[in-house]
Order: sequence, then C-alpha cells, then structure tokens
Amino acid sequence: MRKWNFCAGPGAISEEVLEEVQSELLEYKNAGASIMEVSHRSKLYSAVADEAKQDLIEILNIPKNYDVLFLQGGATHQFSMVPYNFCHSSGEADYILSGTWSKKAISEASKIIKVNTIASSEAKNYSYAPDPKTWNLSESAAYVHYCPNETIQGVAIHDIPSVDKPIISDASSVILSEPLDVNKFSLIYAGAQKNIGPAGLTIVIIERDFMELGNQKIPNILKYSEHSIADSMLNTPPTFAWYMAGKVFKWIKKKGGLEFFKQQNHIKASKLYEYIDSSDFYSNKIDIENRSIMNVTFFLENDELDTSFLHQAEENGLLNLKGHRSVGGMRASIYNAMPLEGVEELINYMQYFESKNG
Ligand SMILES: Cc1ncc(COP(=O)(O)O)c(C=O)c1O
Repeated sequence: MRKWNFCAGPGAISEEVLEEVQSELLEYKNAGASIMEVSHRSKLYSAVADEAKQDLIEILNIPKNYDVLFLQGGATHQFSMVPYNFCHSSGEADYILSGTWSKKAISEASKIIKVNTIASSEAKNYSYAPDPKTWNLSESAAYVHYCPNETIQGVAIHDIPSVDKPIISDASSVILSEPLDVNKFSLIYAGAQKNIGPAGLTIVIIERDFMELGNQKIPNILKYSEHSIADSMLNTPPTFAWYMAGKVFKWIKKKGGLEFFKQQNHIKASKLYEYIDSSDFYSNKIDIENRSIMNVTFFLENDELDTSFLHQAEENGLLNLKGHRSVGGMRASIYNAMPLEGVEELINYMQYFESKNG
C-alpha cells in the first residue's frame, strides 16, 4: 500500500503518473518493446524527447532565446560544469552562501574559479537567507550563483534578485513549484528528483547568448554548447527518466499548470507552518520571510522524543520525516506530488503526538 511520502529527494511522484507509466511499461505504443529498450535516436524516442521539452517550455513559458538541456550527473555535476564553462572570462564569480547546497557549490567552484562569497548566513546556522539587497557584487565576477531553496535547512530566497550580472540558480528543490520569470536568469539548473521526475536527469535552462560565451577549451561532455547542438544527445541520455519527466509535465498541464501548483503549495506550507507556530511542542527555526514552501523543517522541544515521533509516524503511513543528519529534527518535503490531504494527515498526526506527549 502506498503511503504519504515526505522524502526530500528522490521525492514523491504522482500516482496518476506512475499508473500511466505502469500501463506502458511492457510495451510502448506497439513498439514491441518498452521505452527503455528503444534507441534514443529512433523516431519513436525522438517524439517522446521533443514533446517533453516542448511541454516544459510551455509550462515555464521559456523564451525562444533560451535552450533547455536534458543532462545527466545531477545538480552536483552542475557545481563544476558552471564554473568550467564560464571561468575563462574573468576567472572570478560571486556566490551566495545560504545553506548546505550552496556551500557545496562554492567548494566545487573554488577548484576551478576564484569564488567571492559575497553574502553568507553560515554564522547563524543558515536560519535566514542573505537579502539580495545586501549582496555586494564584485565588478569582475563572470556570474552570480545562488540557491533559491536550500533543501536541507528549508530556507528560501523567494524574490528573484535583481542584479547587473548573469545570474545562475540552483533551482533543484523549487523548480515547477510556481511560475518563474526565466528571463531574469542566464542559467537555471535542477536535479529532477523532486518536482520533475525520477533521479538521473538534470534540467538546464540556458540563455543562448550566455551559452555562447562558454569556454571552448573544455571537453565536449562539459560544454553546454555541445549538448545544445546535439539536442541533449551528445551521448546516450537518461531515456527513461526523460520519458517520465514528460509524463510529469503532462500531469502538471492537466492539473492547471504552475498557477495551480503555486496556490496549492502555498496553502500546504501555510497550514503546516501555522500549526507549528501555534504549538509549544514543535518549532521552526527559519526567519519567517525565508521559510521554504517545499521543505518544512521543524524540531520537537524535547528531542528525546524524535525516535518515537518518527516510528509512530511510519506506523501512521507518514514516511521520511527525519531531518537531514547535519541538521537533526524533522523535515517534511511537500513537493507538487504531495496533495493537501497528505499535509492535513501530517498535521493531524502531529496534534495527536503532541496530545499524548506534550
Ligand atoms: C538544492 C540542491 N542542490 C543540489 C543537490 C544535489 O543534487 P544531485 O544529488 O542531483 O547531485 C540537491 C539534492 O538534493 C539539492 O536539493
């Protein structure tokens, strides 16, 4: 029996999508084989790949001067691919440090480029995100990198920063949760395994003019422009994950697009934060204006009850609520595929647990 899955990633996938995939698993469209078993260069697969790309362009309203790439390597691979492509111009880039993932991005980029960490909330345990108004951009930076939603801490920068430099966003845990003005970015990347589909696929949305500035003296597999010329088929792409992402995009469209999910996601998060704030038993440590809509972190006042909370949660059909090992406490990841009903069940359980142990 399927249960409510609050995993931070790989995250929940809509049952509707899984059922459709199941129905096509053994044989895809009279091909005599599953979609996993056909060439990525076949007509059959090309149609799947093109349609997924077009649907993503439609959902996010991606302008024509951008390309969308379907790559491998996860968001982690982007931590080095970004600086490799853009290190040659000035040899410097500005990074914002607002949580564990931006710290990793900085650490990887530092091996390739001079990183200026121009704003940081590390000293306060990432309990807030540095306000873009305080970012002190370096004149010589080739780009500015930030993470709008830090999955581990549950801390977010909600407004798109307005800066005079190419801006690059690690949108892994927030992409497709609401409409996005792609025009404001030079490059957006995201690992698929939260709001897009299964792990193994990484989406890159890149402004074509910016892409052309890329370093030509790096291996093709690292070059955005080569992936773009090859329609993301420089080598064998993650065909099954790409096909499944296409199914998720159709599901998003059917539900009413990103406006629908924005509304639903805000209702889900507000209800959960409201309950946490109303209770003395649970607390959230993030500044209100930086609270994540996707990853809600919370702590029990008495952490000796953590194990029992998690154990009973599982017994009540609520999975993967344990916070990241570096942070402790709890984390409920409430991506698009988590309906309001699942969040309401979580709140009911939290109330019940509080009534028994508070
Ligand atoms: C914001 C963010 N960036 C980067 C990563 C790393 O992604 P991957 O495991 O796809 O390399 C994650 C993974 O959870 C993430 O949440």
